[in-house]
Formats: sequence, structure tokens, C-alpha cells
Amino acid sequence: MDYKQRTRIARIVVDDKVPMDSEIIILGMVRTVRKSKGVAFVQVNDGSCMESLQGVIAEPEKFPVLENILTGASVRMVGKLVPSEGQGQKYEVAVSQLDLIGEADATYPLQKKRHSFEFLREIAHLRARTNTFGAVSRMRSKISYAIHKYYQERGFYYVHTPVISTSDAEGAGDMFRVSTLDLANLPQKDGQIDFSQDFFGREAFLTVSGQLEAELVAMALGDVYTFGPTFRAENSNTSRHASEFWMIEPEMAWAELDDNMDLAEDFLKNLFTFALEECADDMEFFNKWVDKQVIETLQGVVAAKFERVTYTEAIKVLESSKEKFEYPVKWGIDLQTEHERYLTEKAFKKPVIVYDYPEEIKAFYMRVNDDGKTVRGMDVLVPRVGEIIGGSQREERLDVLVDRMKKMGVTDFETYSWYLDIRRYGTVPHSGFGLGFDRVIMYMTGMANIRDVQTFPRVPGWAKF
Ligand code: 4AD
Ligand code: MG
Repeated sequence: MDYKQRTRIARIVVDDKVPMDSEIIILGMVRTVRKSKGVAFVQVNDGSCMESLQGVIAEPEKFPVLENILTGASVRMVGKLVPSEGQGQKYEVAVSQLDLIGEADATYPLQKKRHSFEFLREIAHLRARTNTFGAVSRMRSKISYAIHKYYQERGFYYVHTPVISTSDAEGAGDMFRVSTLDLANLPQKDGQIDFSQDFFGREAFLTVSGQLEAELVAMALGDVYTFGPTFRAENSNTSRHASEFWMIEPEMAWAELDDNMDLAEDFLKNLFTFALEECADDMEFFNKWVDKQVIETLQGVVAAKFERVTYTEAIKVLESSKEKFEYPVKWGIDLQTEHERYLTEKAFKKPVIVYDYPEEIKAFYMRVNDDGKTVRGMDVLVPRVGEIIGGSQREERLDVLVDRMKKMGVTDFETYSWYLDIRRYGTVPHSGFGLGFDRVIMYMTGMANIRDVQTFPRVPGWAKF
């Protein structure tokens, strides 16, 4: 077949690269078929862009195949590119040949009408064929590219950190176990499961973060970043938590907390600018159908200087507010989403970076401040989503790190020996952060649920497809 001769619809309607009157071959799926006296219209979408291309069939009686072409069918459409007589589009195809490649019958679930996002989750194998999920899928691809571009252009090296891990990078215990032991017949030793007989000769898990390994490589290459899948076994059934999500984690040698904040702010602004400029069609769609303020929001973030406040200042702002919080505010609490959203949406009305958190509520690797009570952690909070980035300056002093690990109950020093070695041999001040990829896609698209921006979401109780 002449499949390779086909023209992608984006080349015609987005790039404007195909001259009128060209003979073209379009391969795609039928969105709608309309027949009236003496003329038929077939709308074909090939996924290359939001828009479909309309085929016009002047003498439908000469196309008996039309009888069998329903919404969802795949077709090969041949004809001449001509100016459209209809409203809302510049081009259409004067069809000379139409072939049915793959039939779809009336049970096809994506008939022409609006479907709820909840319904579409049940048919995630088909939902990329809808306008919304097509746009989300294209955004995920383009923003992935923008992320690599951003770091590569700034001299950061991409490192691949392991998915299977034997340490808990966050020290929070929310890990999925990786094991080949026979669950019905677990080997025992001294009344406990004998993991020395497991696949790796020890306990293993899916990683919660590539940070610790990224730190190791940063101590060799300078500036690095990871971009890969991470897994959390926390039973959080919220619209912002997934059990599997992708994370971008830059790690910089010779960098302190201020440098880290500068990078986080610049990185987010760069991604949002990219989305506005390079994904304009899809962004317009989101702005029209999903969140009428999303473009304005992104433009606002790009123009704003992020507010930077210490945790202690943030607590004062919350305490002096008139807001009724469900979770009472006092120094030492972990900020809840309601607090984060108040700070960014009402108190400062722009993105806020909160830093210098109480040591008890933050991970063991964060650098201890001179006050002995707070650590050099930072969270970037944005309106609607709350925390989008979490990061810190790392504790590079061996003795301080060991003390803090003991305090936090991370006492398996054999497991973390390599992490400590980095502080033993040529230790370097360094900093980094993690940006949740799916959260940033939510933010850019205005989509309200993380289940609706992941191609195949994994959340508690759900891992279909
Ligand atoms: O704040 P977190 O847990 O930080 C870390 O994992 C550090 N090791 C990062 C680093 O310093 N290199 O996670 C970082 C970001 C969060 O701000 C959030 O955007 C996202 O990852 N995230 C999640 N996204 C979706 N579902 C979840 N369950 C998430 N947990 C964290
Ligand atoms: Mg965090």
C-alpha cells in the first residue's frame, strides 16, 4: 500500500505546508459521517493535531462503501486539497477514493457526544482518540521534550537511576515491594521472612525517587537530572496523588538553597512559556473547554516574581488570617493542601516558595540550619495544585548527616553506606529538587484530576490496562 505517501493533517492545517490543489492521501479514523441529498461529509482525524480534516463526497451514490463507514472506523481517503466552503476550517478534501480499512460498529463507545471524564477512565485504551485526551497526550510528549531541552542546553547530564531500589530515598516507608518469593510458602529464619533467599539476596522495592543516586552522579559530573518513573504506596485517594508518576529531579554540585530556588523558578517559567508558544492549539482547546483561565494563569506565573518565605513566616501569615482551616495551624505542623493553597491563592496571589522547614517533618537528607531546628528544604506552591516541587540543599557534612539519620530513625547504615561515602570522599555542597511531571501537566492543561492526565493511571484500587 501507499501508506508512506500519506500526508499528516498537522502538516496541512497547522504548518500550512501543503499547497491547495495537491493530491493527498489521508489515513486516520472517522469522527463523524454526515449524509444529505447529493453530498456526504466524512471527518477524519489522524492524531497529529487537534483538528480533523473534512472529506467531501460529491456523488455519494458512487461510494457504496459509505454504508459501512461509521464513527470510529479507520479509512484511507484520497483526493484533492481544496478551500473549504464550510465555516471554521480553511481546507477540505474533494474525495476521489475512500477505502474502509478497519470497521467499527455501533458499539464503538466514543460516539459523537460529550463523555464524562469518569466514563473515559474506564475506557482508557480508547480515550486518546478524544479531543481532550489527544491534546493531553500531545502535551505530555512536547513537555517531555521541553524538559530535556531545558537541561541539555544548560549543561546538565541526563542520568538513569534505578527503578528497582534497595533503599528508601524519602525515609517514609511508602514503597512497593519487589520480590519473587512464593507468597504461599515464604522462607523463614528466626521467626522472620528470610529475604536472603529472595531474588536480589535482600529486600528490594520500586523506587520512590532517583535523588540519592542522582546525588552520587552529580558528585562526578557536576549538574545532572533524572526523568523517570517513581512509585509511592501511600494510600492517598486524592485528585493529585498517583501510585506511579514521573518525576524530574535536577541535582547540582556547588549549589546552595538560593541557587536551587532560582533554578526551580526559571525551569517552571521556561516550561510554561514553551507550552504557551509551542502548544498553542492544544492550549487554546484547554482554555476553551477545560479551564477558562488556564492561559492567563500560565502567563501570570511567567510574569511573576515568585514569593520566597520561610516556613516560620508562612505559619505567621496563616495564623493571622481569618480563614477557618480544617487542620489547625501551629509551628511544627506539616503544611496541608488547604494551607498551601491559602498561601499561594489568597495571601500572596502568586507562586510561593516556602523554605527552612522544621527538621521533624522533612526527610533525613536535608541540610541542617545553624538554628539546629530547621532544615534547608523548599517547596514550590502554585495556585490550584499546591505543592508542585519539593527539594532541598543536601546535608554534605558526614557527622551532621549521621546524627540526623539517627534522629529520624534511618539507622540501617549498611544500606546507606554508599550515600555516606559521598560525604567521606571529597564532599561538596549540593542541592536539587523534584518536579512531579503529572502535576505540572495538570497545571498546564487545567485538568482537575491526575487520573485524567496520565495515559494509564495507577492509583489505589485501580491498575487496569
Ligand atoms: O516532595 P517529594 O516527595 O520529593 C522528593 O521525592 C525528593 N526526593 C525530590 C528531590 O529533592 N530530588 O516529591 C517531589 C514532587 C512533589 O512536589 C510532587 O510534584 C510530586 O513529586 N509528587 C507526586 N505526584 C503525583 N503523585 C504523588 N503521589 C506524588 N508525590 C510527589
Ligand atoms: Mg514533598
